[in-house]
Amino acid sequence: MTTSEAVSRSQVPEAFDEVADRYDLMVGLNPGYHAHLRASAQVLVDSLAADPTEPTAAPVTVLDIGCGSGASTQALVQTLDAAGLDYRLIGVDGSAGMLREARAKAWPANVSFAQGRAEELADLPELEDVELDAIFAAYLVRNVQQRDELFTSLLGRLRPGGILVVHEYSVAGNRSATAVWSAVCWGVVVPLGWITSRRTRLYRYLWRSVMDMDSVPALRTRMRDAGFAQVRSCTIGGWQRGIIHTFHGKRPARS
Ligand SMILES: C[S@@+](CC[C@H](N)C(=O)[O-])C[C@H]1O[C@@H](n2cnc3c(N)ncnc32)[C@H](O)[C@@H]1O
Repeated sequence: MTTSEAVSRSQVPEAFDEVADRYDLMVGLNPGYHAHLRASAQVLVDSLAADPTEPTAAPVTVLDIGCGSGASTQALVQTLDAAGLDYRLIGVDGSAGMLREARAKAWPANVSFAQGRAEELADLPELEDVELDAIFAAYLVRNVQQRDELFTSLLGRLRPGGILVVHEYSVAGNRSATAVWSAVCWGVVVPLGWITSRRTRLYRYLWRSVMDMDSVPALRTRMRDAGFAQVRSCTIGGWQRGIIHTFHGKRPARS
């Protein structure tokens, strides 16, 4: 495979290795990237804190699946710390390069990382016998081919009453969001990918993967069909309004 060939979904997450050392620079040029992650992390924290029927034993255990170079992990740390929650946070990613970037940063002792695919969480020793209170998946779901199976497996990793928050692109069925996404991706993101990493194929894959992603109602339906309750979504602000969304779901409490 040469670096000019198109990336297919089956080559993700490994394809992230080739942009890993430039990923933080790239997302730093995206206005709102970190604030938007914090806004979705806040949805997770609010939901954890708001449930009177399922008091969580401290510390709460949170999984950041597809943690990448740690931007979403950082958003979770900031939001969980601000809420004063006692927590353990585990970041998991399938790309060795992205994980190397995450591990190179300074983290509190309650944050750890492991390499693994979202589809194979059962194989991860770091998650053995761990019942999760919450899962955060930022920019991951779009990359997974078997999304129904993914949601079923994530539901099974959560304790009853546990929370899933998905932060993801979705433009299907929204003509203006689709047009803005295409214009920004080809006019800004792909050229910036070239400037920062001398590679564009992952950013061309990004455009295509967003175009192929479920619509917002379809993703909510997938989550409900997998067994999640309290499924809802909202869009974020700024130019990504209607393009990036926060999805919330909850594993039903034991009856
Ligand atoms: C766009 S990055 C987002 C990283 C981070 N969550 C953030 O918000 O900055 C997507 C990450 O998902 C990882 N990824 C993609 N598919 C995956 C899979 N099937 N299993 C585990 N990680 C995956 C990639 O390696 C990459 O690091």
